[in-house]
Amino acid sequence: MKVTLSVIKADVGSIGGHIKPSNDLLTAVQNHIKSKSKGIFIDYKISYTGDDIAILSTHTGGPLNEKVHKICWEAFLAGGKVAMSQGLYGAKQDLLKQDFKGSVKGMGPAVAELEFEERPAEPFLFFAADKTDPGAFNMPAYLSFCDPMHNAGLLLSSKLRRGFTFRILDASYIEADRIIELNTPEDIYDIAVLLRDTERFFVEGIYSRVSGEQIASISTTRLRNIAGKYTGKDDPVMLVRTQKNFPGTGEILSPYTIGAFVAGFMRGSHNGPLMPVKQNSDISFFDGPPVVSSAAYCVHDGKLTEAADAFDQPYWDYVRTQVSRKAEEIRRQGFFGPAMLSMSELEYGGIVEVLQELEKRFIIKK
Ligand code: F6R
Ligand code: MG
Ligand code: MG
Repeated sequence: MKVTLSVIKADVGSIGGHIKPSNDLLTAVQNHIKSKSKGIFIDYKISYTGDDIAILSTHTGGPLNEKVHKICWEAFLAGGKVAMSQGLYGAKQDLLKQDFKGSVKGMGPAVAELEFEERPAEPFLFFAADKTDPGAFNMPAYLSFCDPMHNAGLLLSSKLRRGFTFRILDASYIEADRIIELNTPEDIYDIAVLLRDTERFFVEGIYSRVSGEQIASISTTRLRNIAGKYTGKDDPVMLVRTQKNFPGTGEILSPYTIGAFVAGFMRGSHNGPLMPVKQNSDISFFDGPPVVSSAAYCVHDGKLTEAADAFDQPYWDYVRTQVSRKAEEIRRQGFFGPAMLSMSELEYGGIVEVLQELEKRFIIKK
């Protein structure tokens, strides 16, 4: 059976700042989907990561399906209404446009979708990250698909050796989607050259060179390009199919042991280590640290199993302690050097205004 997985995610308000959605808000989103999704979804799961709510659904409508996108948009509107009535922070924050015109793309919510013919066993992972941006997935994607230190299958499986096609987006181009396709293994250094720049280049999709099937899909929303100014970090979502001709589940999870420094953290303007957390985890220290959750599923005839919470396992407790140490280290240098983001990535204009004022006071010493 040909099935579509769609994950649509938005921040429509949260308790105590940017910490988590309220129960009433979540219930409003759940109730809307429960009452309206008959005949549109085959199955669905609703979860949150930090202040973002994700609606994961299965259906047969293909990517960018109007009915699927509309029901999610309306669920977020219903949630946003509750957020307003409760005085939640950032109510309707990611709902940047008024008129729904066929899909939520370009309206604020993050979207990742995969359409495929189901294999007899169809395992996949759903990732959601908060207090960071799509560049947070650059390094894990590179390591899981290009590096045998994380993907043993690149050495052990003749199918995986044939490689993958990376579809990479240039987020600096605003007028339209500017993309490049590069193949592993022959282009891995070129892929590295692009993906090292986590502010500009994002992985949009990864495809098998054995079958041409899409393996991974990552949201590449740039809220500031939609709103014309910074309105919060572009907290991304990702779907990855695993096993057989694709990387194993553990090979996709492996790079998250690193707790790599990513953009986000306090006021969306600092670098912090990416902490793998359980689904439905809150945000705290310095409005962070940046977090990523991962739920593993199997899907059959569009029906989802219960989630296996991939980072809810004792190994990741150890990783979380290590990541907390990294967070402590970088926080010790406050706003100096790599602790704070580059000028172009700061979420606030205040520093630019101060610099403009100070410019006038500089003198050239002869
Ligand atoms: C992402 C997130 C942050 C905030 C940013 C701005 O989920 O919460 O990127 O959007 O910290 O926050 P305020 O609204 O407090 O200026
Ligand atoms: Mg937020
Ligand atoms: Mg968020």
